[in-house]
Amino acid sequence: MCGIVGYIGNKKASGILLNGLAALEYRGYDSAGIAVLNDRIEVIKVKGKVADLVSACLSTKAALNGTIGIGHTRWATHGKPSKENAHPHSNDEFAIVHNGIIENFKEIDDFLFQHGYKKISATDTETILLLIDYFSKTLSTFEALKKAVSLLKGSFAIALIRANEERIYAAKKESPLLIGIKEDELFLASDVSAFLEHTKQFIPLEENDVAILEKNGTFHIYNNDMKVERPKKSVNWNLQTAKKGGFKHFMLKEISEEDEALANTIYAYVKNDDIDLDVDESLLKNTKRIIIVACGTSYYAGLTSKYFFEELLSIPTNVEIASEFRYAKPIVYEDDNTLFVAISQSGETADTKESLNLARKLGIKTISIVNVQESTIARLSDFVIYTLAGPEISVASTKAFVCQLAVLYMLALKIAKLKGIDVKNYVKELTAIPSILKQEFNRINSEIEQIAKKYFNVKNFMYLGRGISYPLSLEGALKLKEISYIHAEGYPAGELKHGPIALIDENTPTFVIAPNQEPFYSKTISNANEVKARNGKIILLSDKYFSIADDFIQSPTVSYYFSAFVNILPLQLFAYHIANILGNDVDQPRNLAKSVTVE
Ligand code: AGP
Repeated sequence: MCGIVGYIGNKKASGILLNGLAALEYRGYDSAGIAVLNDRIEVIKVKGKVADLVSACLSTKAALNGTIGIGHTRWATHGKPSKENAHPHSNDEFAIVHNGIIENFKEIDDFLFQHGYKKISATDTETILLLIDYFSKTLSTFEALKKAVSLLKGSFAIALIRANEERIYAAKKESPLLIGIKEDELFLASDVSAFLEHTKQFIPLEENDVAILEKNGTFHIYNNDMKVERPKKSVNWNLQTAKKGGFKHFMLKEISEEDEALANTIYAYVKNDDIDLDVDESLLKNTKRIIIVACGTSYYAGLTSKYFFEELLSIPTNVEIASEFRYAKPIVYEDDNTLFVAISQSGETADTKESLNLARKLGIKTISIVNVQESTIARLSDFVIYTLAGPEISVASTKAFVCQLAVLYMLALKIAKLKGIDVKNYVKELTAIPSILKQEFNRINSEIEQIAKKYFNVKNFMYLGRGISYPLSLEGALKLKEISYIHAEGYPAGELKHGPIALIDENTPTFVIAPNQEPFYSKTISNANEVKARNGKIILLSDKYFSIADDFIQSPTVSYYFSAFVNILPLQLFAYHIANILGNDVDQPRNLAKSVTVE
């Protein structure tokens, strides 16, 4: 997820672009750049934050006094954060910025290389630039853009300028792109926060729209070669609200983005039913043992995947808490082909980093699953598989969890495939999850808010689950603890009667996670009966209703190993609404940090 901005009007574009990028920085902040159209295209770009770009613009010899320009703040997906990979990508003729992921850029590169093109960067975006340049040899700019985007697979929001043309061209598919409207000037942006200080009037481009923005404030939108009119919208948001996309907190916004984050992560690696993780295949094929190490929510993603690894591969999969592992004495034998997997959203967590270093010292091959590109853990590991959740601003990790789980599942599926196991149905089931999550958020969000209103003033909460729902109960309890400050405990449901049932009374409600999969369903329901027998209140999360529930959250029916992907959402929403009702600083809860770089 990156931030795009464009301006065409009578004012100097550079300042407007830089302010717009600053407002969009929550979307990505590892590199940034602007391109301004003067008598030629002037491009300034840096590795680093928008503030670094501002200093580069202040110290450049370039005039930068053009009144037409585009800008970008990046969250790297293809190609590490660097000046070469930063946007805008340009040649003397064109400059382009892009938000999204082009899945077939490698094939297009091969075609372009055969036609004498060379690439400077490792990005999919430069491929689009060169493809447009190729078609512009025989077509007008607009036709060349349309031709190029018709060949792209994946998601994109594109802004393009061309030397000697006082226009901005735009194209949209899946990634958001808006035209901001003001008398005789126009803005282009990934979201309203980029131009909110100038106008609250805008038009959201729709799927497959391509547009031309003219200097005099007029614009034309086409779809499938037909000129189309799109409804004008307006917002009464302030900048902060805009960054949150109208949500009250980044946490709720990030939960609402789980479908998109998951789709981006899955389609970065799933290509035509095959999984390309860019990890040494012989290493994966010969794996006989897996050690997964992480902290907090990332650890619970690892613990949840253990069930799938062992079910699919029958390979012992140990999931370790990093702060324990780093001081432990892991038993590793020469020939046990151990694969070490470190999971970290930030890529900077000290205990996970040191566990990785320990594994390296023991000569174990290491893979890291990381969300922040080029972070320390990513750079330290032999192989890195990035989650593409986009920036996760809220301290409470949500969308990173589902993306981590998806990468772990794809790792298991890849190893299985290399060992000759047929995984087609599993891949199909995984690729179906994003659209289920999209519907689920809209369906249950307000319902869970109502349930939260009944439980926000309790002091203790129990979460129960069996099998794959046990680590989910741990993650559900962690979410509630870290943002509502209510004591909560996740527990294997079968363990309840061995102690914690002593905590149960009418003031300690229990969240029971019970996907309709035997033997887990009926066993979990009987544990819930034990709670009920002690006057405990039951919130039942399942795809099968049972009358024991004081509150029932219907979850969609998916197969057992994929129930974790759909059941995590209501657990995150429940914690969010409780914390919001309590008036807590949900995005920056007390005593916590987004990245724990100390031990
Ligand atoms: C989760 O909501 C917390 N922010 C915390 O437990 C976090 O998961 C843990 O600190 C690990 O962080 P990492 O994924 O960035 O390594």
